[in-house]
Amino acid sequence: PAFGENRANSMGVNIDIESQWQPFSESVQKFMTKTWHKGPVISGQQVETEKTVNVHCPYQLSELAGCLHYAGEKEVDQAIAVAHKAFDSWNQTPVETRAQSLEKLADLLESNLEELVALCHKEAGKTIHDSIDEVREAVDFCRYYANQARKKFSAPQIMPGPTGESNELYLTGRGVFLCISPWNFPLAIFLGQVVAALASGNTVVAKPAEQTTLIAARAVGMMLEAGIPGEAIQLVPGEGKDIGHQLTSDLRIAGVAFTGSTQTARLINQTLATREGAIVPLIAETGGQNAMIVDSTALPEQVVTDVVQSAFASAGQRCSALRVLYVQEDIADRIEDLLVGAMAELKVGNPSLHETDLGPVISEVAQKGLQAHIDRMKQEARLIGQVDLGAECNEGYFIAPVAFEIESISQLDKEQFGPILHVIRYKASELDKVIREINGTGYGLTLGVHSRNEATSSYIEQSLKVGNAYINRNQIGAVVGVQPFGGQGLSGTGPKAGGPHYLYRFATERTRSINT
Ligand code: SER
Repeated sequence: PAFGENRANSMGVNIDIESQWQPFSESVQKFMTKTWHKGPVISGQQVETEKTVNVHCPYQLSELAGCLHYAGEKEVDQAIAVAHKAFDSWNQTPVETRAQSLEKLADLLESNLEELVALCHKEAGKTIHDSIDEVREAVDFCRYYANQARKKFSAPQIMPGPTGESNELYLTGRGVFLCISPWNFPLAIFLGQVVAALASGNTVVAKPAEQTTLIAARAVGMMLEAGIPGEAIQLVPGEGKDIGHQLTSDLRIAGVAFTGSTQTARLINQTLATREGAIVPLIAETGGQNAMIVDSTALPEQVVTDVVQSAFASAGQRCSALRVLYVQEDIADRIEDLLVGAMAELKVGNPSLHETDLGPVISEVAQKGLQAHIDRMKQEARLIGQVDLGAECNEGYFIAPVAFEIESISQLDKEQFGPILHVIRYKASELDKVIREINGTGYGLTLGVHSRNEATSSYIEQSLKVGNAYINRNQIGAVVGVQPFGGQGLSGTGPKAGGPHYLYRFATERTRSINT
């Protein structure tokens, strides 16, 4: 098993095997005609509020994924109150019981795979491969954190001490954890945060991204079915600008797990720092300006396969995605030629079709922002290649994958969260300058290196301040329990999701000394 423990990572479905694809696809199609109607979940009950929004499919705007009721001030306050009251009881529930309910949740996610995949298509515009991987990662988080909680929370650590005294150190929950999750991993990161908090004994108030709350609400339904008490998990749909401040400034919130932009992480940090009451932790996973460095010893075909995956998979909407490719000038022409050929093979379109490589981006705001950057690059940089979009893309928020050659990373003012690759040529003598430039961005999430010279790849990896370094492979798709994931600097606080230290930050430590 990949965890090296008692459960393997989730396998999902192999849609490239016809006998698996056919029945799977038929059941997904049944859910594609469905719409979901969701809202705040407080004390295990779905609440209907006055503020409702329709959720449209990002690849076909005339189609509806569902309807969502937003939480207002009253529901936010109720949700926090319920979670606050339930804390002692959930924290004192045996770790084994908590772990088993999370494992039951993992089983339920797997048995509802087709519905969750349909939701990933309709609400988030995720392709089939990405949607299956999304559910697999969510399942992995449940099983991994259940296991980690058993290991770390079940028994106290016996400390050495004088005769006649027993000294023990143990972990316990902090209180109500606020979990704010992003739209790009609407199930996996949503559940990753929530499940880590619950496994550690906290109760949770969850505010998923407003773009992808339907799937999060469906997952809360499964949590209740799995036996997690309705008082332990509260869901408050809404926009950050409306309910974010109320949530983060409430003194009953004992910790925040946040994945999203660096700018929003700063705002949350500011609110937490200036409020009265306890000083509480913020776990933030934020942006990146991820680079790959390719030297002249690299294998061009392998490089291009990994570049295409890293830059364009998931329409570039991964915080791990490659944005800036540094290629040693000796092989740059060859790499660019192969890149143009590989890009011409990419199919952009309806995410529910087997052959689609890239779906849409998440929203009109995202599409407009990316398009503005592309228009600017067309003036300031050299176009290497751009994929043609078919007519089927006219109805949604599509962006044609594109690669530009630029002179310097300083031409990029911010992270472009979409299928846009920037290539920079460098001379062998300039490697240290390249390293300085990348470190100079202040971001430190992922790094790719392609080199057959081990001394070079190790030098690059050691010199760059990043959280996840990938050598001679692509730089996306960290696997739970295998590649603990998270950055440093402007990219986040750590600890790493899907790693053995993650739960510590959700817990508080207590030392018990008994005079025997
Ligand atoms: N965990 C994701 C990845 O590794 C983050 O975007 O790709």
